[in-house]
Amino acid sequence: MTRHFNFCAGPAALPAAVLERARDEMLDYRGHGLSVMEMSHRSAEYVAIAEKAEADLRELLAIPANYRVLFTQGGATQQFAAVPYNLLGAGGTANFVDTGIWSRKAIAEARHLFGDARVAASSEASSNARVPAQEEIELSRDAAYLHYTANETIGGLAFDYIPRGVRPDGVEVPLVCDMSSSILSGPLDVSRFGVIYAGAQKNIGPAGLVVVIVRDDLLDRARADMPSLFGYKALAEGGSMVNTPATYSWYLAGLVFEWLKQDIGGLAAMDAINARKAGKLYAAIDASGLYSNSIAPANRSRMNVPFVLADPRLDKGFLAEAEQAGLLNLKGHRSVGGMRASLYNAVPEAAVDALIDFMADFENRKG
Ligand SMILES: Cc1ncc(COP(=O)(O)O)c(C=O)c1O
Repeated sequence: MTRHFNFCAGPAALPAAVLERARDEMLDYRGHGLSVMEMSHRSAEYVAIAEKAEADLRELLAIPANYRVLFTQGGATQQFAAVPYNLLGAGGTANFVDTGIWSRKAIAEARHLFGDARVAASSEASSNARVPAQEEIELSRDAAYLHYTANETIGGLAFDYIPRGVRPDGVEVPLVCDMSSSILSGPLDVSRFGVIYAGAQKNIGPAGLVVVIVRDDLLDRARADMPSLFGYKALAEGGSMVNTPATYSWYLAGLVFEWLKQDIGGLAAMDAINARKAGKLYAAIDASGLYSNSIAPANRSRMNVPFVLADPRLDKGFLAEAEQAGLLNLKGHRSVGGMRASLYNAVPEAAVDALIDFMADFENRKG
């Protein structure tokens, strides 16, 4: 059996230790005589799995007691609708910082549903090469909350600070963050946020699960016409079991949380590894004559490293040779082209070293 290095943006690499554990527990979960996939979500065994996963996530992120953790479904895309439904009950307008394709999808959904959404700041003028500074964020008078995308998975543009949403009258509104592609990559001050959401298929586990972390004073702001399954309050009160949850993805997420705690040593240790991995790849790109990345250094994503080759005619050969060398999924998103190496938590440092060696060799031969 050979496991190649997988640089996919999502669904993404999972830790080998987690997959081995899932394999060992597949047919007979810890002597219960059935697999986790076959369990009732209301059984004592499954509820213990679900509660342990939440407890470990709370410990990893030091989530304060006044926050609820929801394990829901529908992808991060469903949250583009669920967030305004949950937070616009008292009226007002959703405000956004636009930093790329995922922010724009969230803005488009808010406009589609409620006709209005305010772009409080945008990276568009910089061709998405720089995140707007705090001083550039101008909320509307009626802003109900400020939404931003911590890490733009396609553009490779990441915030290097946590913004604040302050209205012209000085009132600070709740901060909502799409953290799909950067959650758990390092320590986080959860208390700065009203809502954090993340699709699981990057740093959390397999697709099919979305984690939402919501401050409990925001549970009573929902619109009356909200589809009931979107409701944070109902999910919180029902232990995320309003309907059948994504049981196996939730279990695997729990194994990833255990791996982060026990094998990695927590998020400060993960942070240091991620800084090293991304640092050496950007250094190699910057030193080369063939590869380039145009993002402002402070806003370069540690999770998704896009780069282009000076001659795009070399792209096809680069990808084919990379695949032959066991370096998978380096093709950039279809909307932007070029290359993208996603370096999520489960991508080992050895994968980055192998990629850098391959890139140098390719440049020597073709550059
Ligand atoms: C930052 C970000 N937001 C939202 C999404 C959409 O996630 P999903 O496909 O789970 O709906 C993605 C998917 O890659 C993403 O990277």
